[in-house]
Amino acid sequence: TVLFGVIGDPIRHSKSPIMLNRAFRERNVNGAYAAFHVKPNQLENAIAGVRGLGFRGLNVTIPHKIEVMAYLDEISEGAKAAGAVNTIVNDNGRLIGYNTDGIGYVRSLKEEAEPDIAGKTIVVLGAGGAARGILWALAQENPAAILIANRTESKAKELAASFSPDYRISSLPWGDLRAACSNADIVINTTSVGMSPNVNELPIDPTWLKSGSVASDLIYNPLKTAFLLQAEQVGCKIHSGLGMFIYQGAYAFEYWTGQPAPVEAMREVVLESFV
Ligand code: ATR
Repeated sequence: TVLFGVIGDPIRHSKSPIMLNRAFRERNVNGAYAAFHVKPNQLENAIAGVRGLGFRGLNVTIPHKIEVMAYLDEISEGAKAAGAVNTIVNDNGRLIGYNTDGIGYVRSLKEEAEPDIAGKTIVVLGAGGAARGILWALAQENPAAILIANRTESKAKELAASFSPDYRISSLPWGDLRAACSNADIVINTTSVGMSPNVNELPIDPTWLKSGSVASDLIYNPLKTAFLLQAEQVGCKIHSGLGMFIYQGAYAFEYWTGQPAPVEAMREVVLESFV
């Protein structure tokens, strides 16, 4: 049996074991995937355990995505840009850190809402870890511009400045969002506003979005945030955060096994687990 797992603190609500074990079964991989509750002071030991027990792969979730990088042998370019690792591949004893959150998000956005991101104008709400995690992957698609707005403007400025100007990532004041959204092709909420239990909260007024544009939310609990529900009513195409979760796992599966991920089986089992 090939061993896999996810580490985090807390971890008990993780849907990764259900999703990845379903994927292994679908593709006839003799794998077992478990969730491990690892406190920050045990992170180094946990990674030593991956080496010692010969785990093939590990997912890493909050709060370890940044600190775990210190214990790996190599970090991919995308993970460096995201400043975080969520997927580790054990390549014959060499632990390589990847970030599949950003590329998973973009693959989901393309599959489910906007196949062609090239030339599009994108507004990103929020400048925390979640925003940082998707910016590099979005920039790889060659959009016309990525504009970051954050309640605390200095964080948006810093985040934009941390990328090469080639990526056309800049910041704008929160107060300019109304105008920016009315011109944007894709507006992405990366803030925590609207997450359960505060399901009625809105990051911005959804009526600012132009009809026909894409409204996207990284939140998947609830599956449709108030932002998405109201954006839908003004004629936006909506994209929920569930796809990001599914496709970050799909990329991890593909890195570990070299086989295409059974995305629909993975989505089905995760959706079933919500009821
Ligand atoms: P994450 O890793 O999920 O991005 P984070 O780093 O704590 O978490 O960032 C949370 C993001 O949500 C930030 O951009 C935060 O804005 P500030 O930097 O100004 O704190 C944003 N956020 C949280 N509550 C918000 C609110 N009520 N209105 C607007 N933005 C909010």
